[in-house]
Amino acid sequence: MNSRERFLAALQRQPHGRSPMWIMRQAGRYLPEYRALKAKSDFVTMVRTPDLAVEVTLQPLRRFAQLDAAILFSDILVIPEALGVGYRFREEGGIAMERALSGESDLKTLQVADAAARLDYVYAALKLLRRELGNQKALLGFAGSPWTLACYLIEGGGSGDFPKTRHLLKTNPSFLHQLLEVLSLTVADYLSKQLQSGADAIQIFDSWASVLSGSEYESFSLKYIRQVVRRLPANAPIILYAKGKSADASSLAATGVPCLGVDWTMPLSQVRALAGRPLCLQGNLDPEFIVGSPEAAVQATKAILADNAGDPGHIFNLGHGITPQAKIETLQAVLETVVGGK
Ligand code: CP3
Repeated sequence: MNSRERFLAALQRQPHGRSPMWIMRQAGRYLPEYRALKAKSDFVTMVRTPDLAVEVTLQPLRRFAQLDAAILFSDILVIPEALGVGYRFREEGGIAMERALSGESDLKTLQVADAAARLDYVYAALKLLRRELGNQKALLGFAGSPWTLACYLIEGGGSGDFPKTRHLLKTNPSFLHQLLEVLSLTVADYLSKQLQSGADAIQIFDSWASVLSGSEYESFSLKYIRQVVRRLPANAPIILYAKGKSADASSLAATGVPCLGVDWTMPLSQVRALAGRPLCLQGNLDPEFIVGSPEAAVQATKAILADNAGDPGHIFNLGHGITPQAKIETLQAVLETVVGGK
């Protein structure tokens, strides 16, 4: 069974030998070959240029032959950009949006019609990647959840816990709902175009799920994630990652997705028990292990595999993106441990 078949089998909980794996880079300047490319072009140019995006996507696969899937090099902020709110990566770290949205009058400034169609550079990169990877390796696309995208749009950039967005939720919920509606339409359109362009699976990142309380999470995030899922084909290969929300695994599973991405704060067995239905789980090594010694990381990897107890519905992954301080030799040792299967 090759990598792609193994990945697709795990998503459907079909037997396939060892757990397939991939890693999300995100704050990913850990590879010298990435830093070399970035010295020549800025981040947004790399995202917008299909040949460069393809090259950066393939870098981890060239270095780590054990990886079963590639994740497209892009960013969740391409959707705000397509709607008319650009973004940039600050050299000192962090994300800045061109402007912040604060009320109904800002909604009129968004270019909603055909927004996803303006992301043709993403579909071009996926098509090129599909050709490069053939049937050997799986290819993943992704998008931010409506709520997580709204956080960046309202806050005007990255933030600790998005106080402006949380404040607005209490003072002008109707504006927020209108914005979330627009975002869920655009995200669904965008993800379905990614599937048509050759992505084998798509991940929805609800990275800022945890800034919401339980009932707010239902009305301002889960509701719109369900809308996205409903607008995609039935049984679409979706991985839903809601950081900090493992305790809500049953609500996350009830969205109907075949797979949940799990952060490192709860063992997979416990998430499985809470989910209440059989599904695939992806995760969940704490990325901080990759900054430390291979021995500790290998031990923690073995504990995750043991806890999963051979369930075929498992994709090995970090509980979040790899950090800039990650050690290549530690990551290598982790990947070899997963290949060894114990
Ligand atoms: O392996 C890959 O290349 C994956 C591609 C990818 C990126 N961003 C590239 C990127 C993915 C899947 C993302 C998703 C993303 N982007 C999310 C959701 C995932 C998560 O982390 O929860 C979010 C919230 C964003 C927004 C964003 N973009 C942040 C918070 C940052 C990091 C800012 C910082 O200070 O580190 C980015 C920048 C970014 N996106 C980088 C990469 C490789 C780092 C750019 C660099 O350092 O050169």
